[in-house]
Amino acid sequence: MSKSRIIVALDFSSAAEALKLANQLDPQLCRLKIGMELFTAAGPSLIERLMSIGFDVFLDLKFHDIPTTVARACKAAGSLGVWMVNVHALGGRKMLIAARDAVPQGSTKLIAVTVLTSMNQDDLDDTGLRGQPEEIVRRLAQLSHDCALDGVVCSALEAPHLRQMLGNDFCLVTPGIRPAGNQSDDQKRITTPHQAILNGSNYLVIGRPITQAADPLFVCQRINAEIGNL
Ligand code: C5P
Repeated sequence: MSKSRIIVALDFSSAAEALKLANQLDPQLCRLKIGMELFTAAGPSLIERLMSIGFDVFLDLKFHDIPTTVARACKAAGSLGVWMVNVHALGGRKMLIAARDAVPQGSTKLIAVTVLTSMNQDDLDDTGLRGQPEEIVRRLAQLSHDCALDGVVCSALEAPHLRQMLGNDFCLVTPGIRPAGNQSDDQKRITTPHQAILNGSNYLVIGRPITQAADPLFVCQRINAEIGNL
């Protein structure tokens, strides 16, 4: 299994594009994330293929449904042998506990999304959720922790507070990462790999800085070197 903290986001629309990139990468230097676009297009066979060439796979489908349905989906993900899977913490306590029961601790890592970073205060007010985004993030991270999930997805800017609140064993997975000198693309609040690790992140989700690079393997090597001794 890879020891790298880098998770490369395979934001592609076909298995062919995903495999082309995976073949340029090294399973010792990164893990791979498959989201809903690629999974809908390419299905479990792509996951099996990527695992067969040595990659750990994070299946980022953000399950959110009634407890039984989510539990069954999590069980299916566990049976595929993925390294990590996620659910929406907004599904609530019963759903989180059902998901946890379906994915035994120590097997596939089960993490939760708290508040989507695309949502601002107005969006949250529209839904009727009370409080400021950061309060809701903390509340949902605490709920995920209470339900024995392995961690949450969060911004590296939220990581110090969540680390302090939830202890060292709780896994913080952070997107919005840009190595120094990279363009920010559509990410609003970005953090360098080095700073994200200092802030308490365990794993960095990195898409375009690697997927669009002329030499993706070199970028992975450089980021691993930057965070290697932290
Ligand atoms: O290309 P980039 O590094 O911005 O890609 C980041 C990846 O992390 C994408 O797959 C995006 O959907 C995901 N993500 C995010 N922000 C979140 C949650 C997930 O950017 N809050």
